[in-house]
Amino acid sequence: MTPKPVRDIIPGIDGLAFGGDYNPEQWPREVWEEDIALMREAGVNVATVNVFSWASINPGPGKWEFGQLDDIMDLLESGGVKADLATSTASPPPWFSQAHPETLPVAPEGHRLHYGARAEYCPHAPAYQEAVVEMASKLAERYAGHPALAMWHVGNEYYRTCFCDLAAAEFQAWLRDRYGDLDGLNDAWGTTFWSQTYTDWEQVLPPRACAETPNPSFVLDYRRFGSDARLKLFNSEAAAIAEHSPDKPITTNLMVTGNFAGNDYFRWGKDLNGENRLISVDHYLVPNDTITYEPQVAYAAALSRGLAHGHPWLLMEQSANASAWRGGGFAKRTGEQLRHSLGYVAHGSEGAMYFQWRASRYGTERWHAAMVPHGGRETKTFQEVVQLGQWMKNLAEIKGSTVQSQAAILLDFESVWAHDTPGQLSSFMTPFPELRRWHAALWKRGITCDIAHPAEDLSRYPVVFAPSLQMLDDDANLRRYVEGGGTLVVGPFSGVTDRNEHVHPGMPGALRDLLGVRVVEHVPLREDEMVALDDGTSGAFWAETAASEGAEVIVSYVDYPGTAAIFHRAVGSGQVWYLTTRPTDLNSFLDRLDLQPEFPGLPEGVETVRRTHEDGRSYLFALNHTDKEATIPASGHDLLANTAWTPTTTLPANTCAVIREVR
Ligand code: GAL
Repeated sequence: MTPKPVRDIIPGIDGLAFGGDYNPEQWPREVWEEDIALMREAGVNVATVNVFSWASINPGPGKWEFGQLDDIMDLLESGGVKADLATSTASPPPWFSQAHPETLPVAPEGHRLHYGARAEYCPHAPAYQEAVVEMASKLAERYAGHPALAMWHVGNEYYRTCFCDLAAAEFQAWLRDRYGDLDGLNDAWGTTFWSQTYTDWEQVLPPRACAETPNPSFVLDYRRFGSDARLKLFNSEAAAIAEHSPDKPITTNLMVTGNFAGNDYFRWGKDLNGENRLISVDHYLVPNDTITYEPQVAYAAALSRGLAHGHPWLLMEQSANASAWRGGGFAKRTGEQLRHSLGYVAHGSEGAMYFQWRASRYGTERWHAAMVPHGGRETKTFQEVVQLGQWMKNLAEIKGSTVQSQAAILLDFESVWAHDTPGQLSSFMTPFPELRRWHAALWKRGITCDIAHPAEDLSRYPVVFAPSLQMLDDDANLRRYVEGGGTLVVGPFSGVTDRNEHVHPGMPGALRDLLGVRVVEHVPLREDEMVALDDGTSGAFWAETAASEGAEVIVSYVDYPGTAAIFHRAVGSGQVWYLTTRPTDLNSFLDRLDLQPEFPGLPEGVETVRRTHEDGRSYLFALNHTDKEATIPASGHDLLANTAWTPTTTLPANTCAVIREVR
């Protein structure tokens, strides 16, 4: 298969994108002039404007006032800064909510929420659906030809869920489409359990607060429906924009880590990967996390890469310093934001963008970090921003290059949602922390991996990990991958339920034949309980008694004599591993695989990632996250320091290099 040519996802921007959300409407005019001067000093070449400006553009029913936005767009143009123009539909103003009270979201308990913050809308309310299309259309008509316009930014971080009657009506229509008739719905939801059979579509409501734990299949479908409805909203605005502005890329900023947004981003990725579309993501590091910062950056990037399917992507938001809503107080140490920003770029981002350019003086985010903090240009933060801006200029030639990963970790958002549904056997078998734990273990060993979807073509990855894949309809795609020569590693409690969250007969269900293993019984463990294995390692949270049906037993439990813990099986030209517990030490397991880093022996925390152009030009990013200098045995030219790089050049602690390689 000939790979598709890599798309230039931000053709309107020279080199890499560097900038952030810019809210000049919060400031008097004289500050705007200073902003432009500081942007030039920092090398900012793009600003995301109009994200939350509905109230100024459309201050009342039928009233449209574009004067201020005209000025902002002209200001950017005069300063040589391109605009990522947002549609401002993420935050309807009070007049709108008052005029259309049915557009305010309803909580699961049934009460309607009030306005006073942001994202106060019901995705299913026709008045909101119509208003956002009108807004997008008016903006596109007006600014399509503006010389500052580089790209469109629809909404902001779609995540709102609503439980109102309008949602119920849309949900019923979505279900009719999915199941055809009520028999199909009753089957899929297993409504004979607890006598929940539906006899009329009108009886089907959103999963509002009820007296007991609700039906898991029903809850799961509501999440699918919510994700689809939000995607439909995005697409409706995007279509309205494309009518007037067919040649500019359109995006919306995805919240890639965790599950807060409730969107199936692999499904969204399909719509965001077409012509004139791009994957852009927001990423905020979690302080006090069990997984240190650096793998978090790589993890967010791995997922973004997975969503972009081989094309570059864009980091749309990150924080220059402490994020107030993370509890505040977690300042980035000197050099950290440089390393982090470069980390995203190393992993395929076509730039580094922030929330936000200038710190707000008021509002909930008045203490949130910014590229220009309250302390202005003399802050360490701004000085580092200036440094980063210079680096971004030096790296212009990497635009359009991509990262090839050695491995993939499988993520299916629907399976994660399935895990979140009521009635799980163990609350410690959470998918995301486990995926991130595997990712961090690979990262520490110098293995670059993508996060990929289990149904996609995985043949480009020598090794694929499925640490937590509870819900899997069938093994067809994974079997194809393994038979074709891939190595698949499957974690416990995977493949056990179908797409409706019904337990497959014959555990471990969908994967039983492929794994050559029959699981007899699940053994959920206590939070602090560990089980000893006969290779000297241990497992946690979960164990299974299982018997071979063709697989070789590699490791057994000490605590359950005669019971296998780790199986291995050759299938076609590939192989498959099955772990019936979560190994506490992933390294020992990874030693069993043929997965070598390019630079064996680099200290943990010295990260290398390569970006390559289609014509073969390549760039080795070296990020030293440690407090000791390191040597990377490569040759070429370091684009950051603008000096030659030889195999004996040292990379000081807490610094980075980007080596244009001589190969
Ligand atoms: C993002 C959001 C921004 C801002 C930022 C603060 O999730 O898109 O508008 O709130 O968080 O960290």
